[in-house]
Amino acid sequence: MPAYAVIGGQWGDEGKGKVIDYLAGQSDCVVRYAGGNNAGHTVVNERGEFQLHLVPSGICWPGVAGIIGNGVVVNPDVLLGEIAGLQRQGIDTGQLFVSDRAHVIMPYHILLDHLQEQARGSGAIGTTGQGIGPAYVDKAARDGIRVGDLLDAKHLPEQVRAAVALKNRVITGLFDGDPIDADQALARCREWAERLRPVVRPTEQMVQDLLEQGKRVILEGAQGTLLDLDHGSYPYVTSSSPSIGGAITGLGINPQSIKGVVGVFKAYSTRVGGGPMPTEMLGQAGDDLREKAREYGTTTGRARRVGWFDAVAARYSRQINGFTGMVLTRLDILDGMDDVKICVGYRADGGELNRFPANTALLERCEPVYEKLAGWHEPTASATSAAQLPANALAYVRRIEALVGCNAQIISTGPSRNETIAINPIIN
Ligand code: GDP
Ligand code: IMO
Ligand code: MG
Repeated sequence: MPAYAVIGGQWGDEGKGKVIDYLAGQSDCVVRYAGGNNAGHTVVNERGEFQLHLVPSGICWPGVAGIIGNGVVVNPDVLLGEIAGLQRQGIDTGQLFVSDRAHVIMPYHILLDHLQEQARGSGAIGTTGQGIGPAYVDKAARDGIRVGDLLDAKHLPEQVRAAVALKNRVITGLFDGDPIDADQALARCREWAERLRPVVRPTEQMVQDLLEQGKRVILEGAQGTLLDLDHGSYPYVTSSSPSIGGAITGLGINPQSIKGVVGVFKAYSTRVGGGPMPTEMLGQAGDDLREKAREYGTTTGRARRVGWFDAVAARYSRQINGFTGMVLTRLDILDGMDDVKICVGYRADGGELNRFPANTALLERCEPVYEKLAGWHEPTASATSAAQLPANALAYVRRIEALVGCNAQIISTGPSRNETIAINPIIN
């Protein structure tokens, strides 16, 4: 029953899309289990370049099914638009399915996301503005509308009208915003129902059956462990569980079915949105790295904050997920530096910490303790075997492995599928 989870080890945008596209050729199915279209996963291969927000990243492989599981929050407009875009690019989407238990992102969720962020003022989280938090709030409050509900023509009008009435009280009363029109919302739901009906399935059964048949299933993480609602730098997190626990509840599978849990890490750090980032590089050095790496968000286009690799946070992430191995991406971005740094501890309030703290104010005060390693001037970009790596680049990887506590199974040296060094098979 081999499922393999591929999970962001940092603050998202580690290159999960690239890695999953690479691995999906050896699998039967790729499933998303959490988050929504706050995710932006980039896939580059011989078919073209793709920015995927909801569709699982194995979609370019003919015969590999794609499933959007119950733990995902779905904006039907985004999903339908993405499917149409893929079809225009010649990609077959005939094996793409959505869970009837997945919650729908309604227009009022997007409005509330903006109104809440405005109200937070200088304490804004810096959300992607896609309605993710408010949709998960309604799920937990048991006020949500699920994909399966859209298909129930008899009950839908009552459900949508009740939800809109409740939300309008919040929108107008709390935030002084403009109310949502219930008839318009209902009309949109009906249109979504007709267009989504052919792909709605009880996906937990589908995934369970695939696993019982011995098929290889990739569990596609979105976001990253440090954005986890429970384990991340709360409140500067997303509203779901990107880490391994989310994969189990977000799909309806059992832990015994998971054979490998792979953490994807960038060779340095990035973060988009607010919240602490101990190794953040400010000033010219940060600007230079951002420009060289073209670190701008896939979903919002925002400039990503950049910094050195944080081994304290990465080790914490490894422990939460039980990573059986890691993928190190974007090693090529560090080519040409005289030296490179790794954060091996934090200093705060006159003492040293070697663990990622729960207290976000404390994390804000943490100063990184760096270990400096010699850089490399020969290119790693596009290398396809470990033998092609300069000795100092390999030494950098080895030091990260030792500090994080698991081995690199893949090193990625460029955005394309073939710019990949396979060290140890992940799927077997
Ligand atoms: P994801 O959200 O984890 O899938 O990551 P994103 O797609 O948001 O951001 C990762 C970016 O890095 C994308 O532009 C990828 O095409 C690119 N990328 C992935 N791996 C590598 C790599 O090894 N080297 C370089 N230079 N770019 C990479
Ligand atoms: P992928 O899957 C990076 C961040 C947002 C914000 C916080 C909360 O591409 O790695 P939300 O809209 O989820 O309520 O925003 O989480 N965030 C991401 N950052 N990559 C992502 O996804 C992200 N998804 C959410 O920037 O700080
Ligand atoms: Mg991304």
